[in-house]
Amino acid sequence: MEYVEIFDTTLRDGEQVPGCKLDSVTKLMIAEQLDQLGVDVLEAGFPISSPGDFKAVEDISKLVKNARVCGLTRAVKKDIDVAAEALKSAKRSRIHTGIGTSESHMRYKFNASPEQIIERAVAAVTHAKSYVEDVEFYAEDAGRTENEFLAKVCEAVIKAGATVLNIPDTTGYCLPEEYGAKMKYLKENVTGIHKATLSCHCHNDLGLATANSIAGVQHGARQIECTINGIGERAGNTSLEEVVMILRQHPTLNLDTRIQSKQLFGISQLVSESMAMPVQPNKAIVGANAFAHSSGIHQDGVIKKRETYEIINPTDVGVNQSSIILTARSGRAALAYRAKNIGYELDKLQLDKVYQQFLIVADQQKEIGDEDLPKIIEATNI
Ligand code: KIV
Ligand code: ZN
Repeated sequence: MEYVEIFDTTLRDGEQVPGCKLDSVTKLMIAEQLDQLGVDVLEAGFPISSPGDFKAVEDISKLVKNARVCGLTRAVKKDIDVAAEALKSAKRSRIHTGIGTSESHMRYKFNASPEQIIERAVAAVTHAKSYVEDVEFYAEDAGRTENEFLAKVCEAVIKAGATVLNIPDTTGYCLPEEYGAKMKYLKENVTGIHKATLSCHCHNDLGLATANSIAGVQHGARQIECTINGIGERAGNTSLEEVVMILRQHPTLNLDTRIQSKQLFGISQLVSESMAMPVQPNKAIVGANAFAHSSGIHQDGVIKKRETYEIINPTDVGVNQSSIILTARSGRAALAYRAKNIGYELDKLQLDKVYQQFLIVADQQKEIGDEDLPKIIEATNI
């Protein structure tokens, strides 16, 4: 089994969600929970972007016990100086620097030639190296960068001392096969690649961030950059809980993370509440309906054997138990199960009678709760 490092960027890329800015106390609380969750790297912010972000990175650096603390910079000397200052109290730190490498970034953002981009990338990594041993380089918009040029950039920054190569699909454009092939190409064509870790950083514009990250690690990447609940710019980033559980549920991939999965639901709630950003009910792993069953056929199966309709044990991600939701689509098995939970053992005849009454009420109500059940049972005079 090989380990995939989890690089959490909830407090940097995740916090770029419009209107979801966190205050410094909340950031510290989330950082502490992420550290306990077992993330390998915690990207705490973009220190030069504001005094608040600088302070957050500084405070998180002092607080975090296990994870490596990382600060983002552009390929700009001053950014790197400020990040190094903010990170100086961290037990283990990383500077994350980089520059756009796609045609459109080079032409429209930087008005620079490919050679000038490589020069700036190398200068940034060299400068960051004068402060810290661990330097991660990001080739922004790598998803739309030609593989051949991307390989040249990677080779140059490895020579300058980059320890991690982040290959962001910044615009969420790649298909999983394409993103996986990009990682494979870099593994096979970059001289010195064995000295660096390839990292997946995928955005979710086409809903492919998780699939792309998994394709990346299947083709040699050993770090995934992700956020709790998949929050982030536009349609968000790769969701941490999804990649962690995919690797855990598929032992044949031979890849795992150090994440304490029982903490996933709790931290999902914490991030959602702190950012006032509700988790969609059908969100994989941590959504309110992720372990809820409402159709009669499924409920009957789950009551007989949970595994018939669940591939994850809810307790493995910190959810107490699967729930059987009573609606007009439920069957007798679900009704008997829920009635028993609140103290009513119904025999077959009683259940038939209660079920008829239940259907009448359920047709008028979206969901039947524990508070409704006694009234329904008593109305049948059994
Ligand atoms: O999406 C992206 O390209 C980024 C980089 C700054 C790492 O977030
Ligand atoms: Zn990003």
